[in-house]
Amino acid sequence: PAPLRVGLLGLGTVGSGTYAVLERNAALIAARAGRRIEVRMVAVRNLARARTVLGEQPGTPLLTDDPQALVCSPEVDVVVEVMGGTGLARSLVLQAIAHGKHVVTANKALLAEHGAEIFAAAQARGVVVAYEGAVAVSIPIIKALREGLTANRIEWVAGIINGTTNFILSAMRERGLSFATALAEAQALGYAEADPAFDVQGTDAAHKLSLLAANAFGTLPQYPQVQVQGITAVDAADVAFAEQLGYRLKLLGIAKRHGTGLELRVHPTLLPESHLLAQVHGSMNAVMVKSDAAGITLYYGAGAGAEQTGSAVIADLVDLARSASLSPAQRVPALGFASGVQPGLPV
Ligand code: NDP
Ligand code: HSE
Repeated sequence: PAPLRVGLLGLGTVGSGTYAVLERNAALIAARAGRRIEVRMVAVRNLARARTVLGEQPGTPLLTDDPQALVCSPEVDVVVEVMGGTGLARSLVLQAIAHGKHVVTANKALLAEHGAEIFAAAQARGVVVAYEGAVAVSIPIIKALREGLTANRIEWVAGIINGTTNFILSAMRERGLSFATALAEAQALGYAEADPAFDVQGTDAAHKLSLLAANAFGTLPQYPQVQVQGITAVDAADVAFAEQLGYRLKLLGIAKRHGTGLELRVHPTLLPESHLLAQVHGSMNAVMVKSDAAGITLYYGAGAGAEQTGSAVIADLVDLARSASLSPAQRVPALGFASGVQPGLPV
């Protein structure tokens, strides 16, 4: 069968991790996908920067600083958007869709803020927009909500869904680091957003919560409806007092159904140290789901990182390689089914 031809928008932390895993595990990925997944083009901002991950083998993908050319290229079946931002990324994703390309993205800000427009465009054009890497990277939580729990009426979803803030809170408690030093370490490890205010102010967790809620409750992403408080006001004394009282401070995202209404919030929370979510350290994430038939389920894994996100991006590519020839109606939908649930509490 013909290979699935990928155009990679971005070769930073996530782009490099995705490329490295695709290369290293090419044979097993091809066996599972039923065909090879080949990166044909890569768009970056700075062509002069060394790109060791690409190597210098024959068949090395074309490197370009013209992302428009990539999204229009007849050499590309699927555009993987891992450049970030909501301006150029939005326009490129919409152009890719207009050219009949499928899209895989790890960009939660893009889908939380422009998901309604992007999903509608994809539906109209009959292409897929997949985003497993956008939420709690190593954890296949979108698949779990959309497919594994599809028989269930979900009551609530709650979790630690930002790696950087969990890393900071853990480093302050376990290693006595200052907030600023811990944040600098998270940035050096590639966990933080390009603008780390998105992490520490809770915005990134709110973006992800809106995507989780969309899948759990059948809404469009409703990021503006999320009540958000980040961890910028947390200092060493808060962490120490919590510890003395037998609690751990965690930034939680919570989405809870109330009849036909939906409560969406992100804020620092004191959890008893025996709570399962209190055991989640460093940049790890965990998501708990309460549903009527399956009961409580818990998902745990890396919340950020290069190959960790690459793993999720490639899972979407493998799904696509298997299902691209199906009609749109036969494919698993990009979002949960419409349910009539509305963000905001019923009055
Ligand atoms: P990086 O900053 O490491 O990489 C961004 C990449 O995009 C770089 O290769 C950059 O090029 C390229 N790029 C940026 N602007 C342009 C442009 N105008 N034209 C062409 N290329 C461009 O970001 P990350 O990999 O960390 O994040 C990418 C996305 O993935 C974001 O949406 C982020 O939220 C998301 N994400 C990140 C995770 C992580 O752990 N870091 C985990 C899950 C999701 P150049 O290399 O030349 O600068
Ligand atoms: N900045 C994000 C985090 C990356 O720390 O969780 C993963 O989405």
